[in-house]
Amino acid sequence: MDARDRRRMGINLRKWDESVPLHVASAGYDVPSFLRGRSTLRPLEIRTMGSVRGRSLLHLQCHFGLDTLSWARRGALVTGVDFSPRAVRTARDLARRTKIHARFLRSNVYDLPHMLEGQFDIVYTAKGAICWLPDLVRWAEVVARFLKPGGRFYLLEDHPYCEVFPNESDTTRLEVKHPYFGGRALREEYDGTYATTVKMRHRVSYSWAHPVGEVLSSLAGQGLVIESVKEFPYTYWKRFPFMSRDRNGDWILTEGAGLVPLMWSVLARKR
Ligand SMILES: C[S@@+](CC[C@H](N)C(=O)[O-])C[C@H]1O[C@@H](n2cnc3c(N)ncnc32)[C@H](O)[C@@H]1O
Repeated sequence: MDARDRRRMGINLRKWDESVPLHVASAGYDVPSFLRGRSTLRPLEIRTMGSVRGRSLLHLQCHFGLDTLSWARRGALVTGVDFSPRAVRTARDLARRTKIHARFLRSNVYDLPHMLEGQFDIVYTAKGAICWLPDLVRWAEVVARFLKPGGRFYLLEDHPYCEVFPNESDTTRLEVKHPYFGGRALREEYDGTYATTVKMRHRVSYSWAHPVGEVLSSLAGQGLVIESVKEFPYTYWKRFPFMSRDRNGDWILTEGAGLVPLMWSVLARKR
């Protein structure tokens, strides 16, 4: 990770910070129903993790905390981390309003070892997180640093194969445009985000493709034992305009459902 990548993360931070009140007001995040008790975790996540009661859980890139607080509602002792000051302020406010015990810290993932002590039973990251990170070797060092021996790491993400297809609002079919293989920052310029069409002041963001091999090798390189890798023909959001919902509420390709992987998960354990 060089100075240019640090600068790009700074540009991303401005866009993420601006997005927070827009996301809080968005139908997609549906904060009112969360306040009434809805969990924002996918049934798949809950099944995979099993009971988290009494377990310490570190959530990397927690945005404004809905998933973090949903794990806390299931009994986990949660710490959420995000580099957006507004996201962290909002997460703390939601914790206060829902009377959920949670800790939220503002930190870039890469700086977390300077900000936080201790180790956790679970490190969790999910649903649109690692594509914002330029360097997965250093990311995996952070994951390993914060896991207790025997602790579990869980990732649920967009499948990296999907990143080769542009997903703009006028995209009509799957067409390979971006490289599957990582290494270069992808600059994009949009009015809004995945959750809002409001025209934002900060339009530019940078993301990084991380192929399956890179993610797994970076975790294995830290001595984590990969326990399972799963790929799914459905995903948690409407990534392409031509998707529809299946009966479980997941998003699938309306035509060609099941042909390409849309989401994946990794479960790993520290020795
Ligand atoms: C799509 S959200 C995370 C997904 C979360 N499951 C959600 O939808 O609420 C991505 C988050 O990553 C955070 N983020 C991006 N780059 C980061 C970095 N380098 N360090 C810490 N947080 C970062 C952003 O501020 C944003 O809140």
